[in-house]
Amino acid sequence: MEQALKGKHIVLGISGGIAAYKSAFLLRLFIKAGAEVQVVITPNGKEFITPATLAALSGKPVVSEFFAANTGEWHSHVDLGLWSDLMVIAPATASTIGKMANGVADNMLITTYLSAKSPVMIAPAMDLDMWAHPSTQRNIATLESYGVEIIQPGAGELASHLVGKGRMEEPDEILKRVIEHFSQRDSLRGKKILVTAGPTYENIDPVRFIGNYSSGKMGFAIAEEAASRGAEVILVAGPVSLETRHPRISRINVRSARQMLEAAQDAFEECDAAILSAAVADYAPEECCDTKLKRENTDGLTLKLVKNPDIAATLGDKKGNKILVGFALETDHEHDNALKKMKSKKLDMIVLNSLQNPLAGFNKDTNQVTIIKADGKETEYPAKSKKDVAVDILDELESVIN
Ligand code: PMT
Repeated sequence: MEQALKGKHIVLGISGGIAAYKSAFLLRLFIKAGAEVQVVITPNGKEFITPATLAALSGKPVVSEFFAANTGEWHSHVDLGLWSDLMVIAPATASTIGKMANGVADNMLITTYLSAKSPVMIAPAMDLDMWAHPSTQRNIATLESYGVEIIQPGAGELASHLVGKGRMEEPDEILKRVIEHFSQRDSLRGKKILVTAGPTYENIDPVRFIGNYSSGKMGFAIAEEAASRGAEVILVAGPVSLETRHPRISRINVRSARQMLEAAQDAFEECDAAILSAAVADYAPEECCDTKLKRENTDGLTLKLVKNPDIAATLGDKKGNKILVGFALETDHEHDNALKKMKSKKLDMIVLNSLQNPLAGFNKDTNQVTIIKADGKETEYPAKSKKDVAVDILDELESVIN
């Protein structure tokens, strides 16, 4: 762990809670790991720990006010926001979390957060009822949707002597998360990765379509994971209601398989790899009616369907040295079908998931996959959250891309 943060610039934000005493230990750990740390503290934070302690540990004057008391010099939150590779706010009180979620820029810490170009992590600390309150939970969800990483508080005895969730995570655990953050961020730096996600909708008329149950959760988790490892990600997404969070993800929204093919083909040209997790409709109506089909005019309805293009196979034909990862969603003869798909689509790797497994497939938060590589190596993974499945897929991709 020694010097694992060498050369990294960390802004350590401290807000006013009793857990601020632990920030001194955290600061010491960051410095020992080689980071350069600038402390920004709220006015209330200074009631719990002195700037003198923090300045001595960081080797830099602590920033708290918009203007330096002795010289009147203006502290530039914009410069600090640009300087930082990571902003860690520990402890983050309910008040600071609320201000961050709502852009209430009334102190130096919040203005620095609003100007930060770097990723942001927060380690909340407060009493259990404050943590459980719907407004705190709503603010936490808002921050998550902005891409802020939440280091969940632990449970135990709190400063109030009540027992419950609300204790700031221990400094050595926060350090581990920060090191993990930086080591992951670099492993795919310089790579560009195409990810397809979600379903495609094939229009029948202006109000009806052929579609499937894909939610996009699997593909979005892959895109987030790839971006968090430093890759530039082009996410071609079918119609889903998910948000993308990471600034390194460029999202292209499409609806039909043909639109997805067009976007994927263009993007693939500039990419090093593609991971195709979309559930693409294999068929589309031969014709789409311009006006709504009326039931009164028919006894029944026969739709003529035509085959959609196979996006994976099209990319496979022109992949050259690029790495192509496909999925196989099966209901029977899973393994054989996956191997056939890997071969016919010229994939380097296929991620098999089966609808026979209640923890796998459409719209679940979990998946259970077997990853099969073209060289014959196979790994069967246990059921995990889709976020953790994305980690396994990216680990396997890294083993062939680098
Ligand atoms: O989105 P979620 O709700 O999180 O669900 C995730 C998922 C179940 C959709 C995902 O894990 C998954 O299995 N995706 C692939 C679904 C699929 O269409 O599988 P397939 O076996 O029919 O297709 C094989 C491969 O060819 C896939 O990589 C697919 O993207 C691709 N394909 C398929 C048809 C087609 N016309 N063009 C393609 O590129």
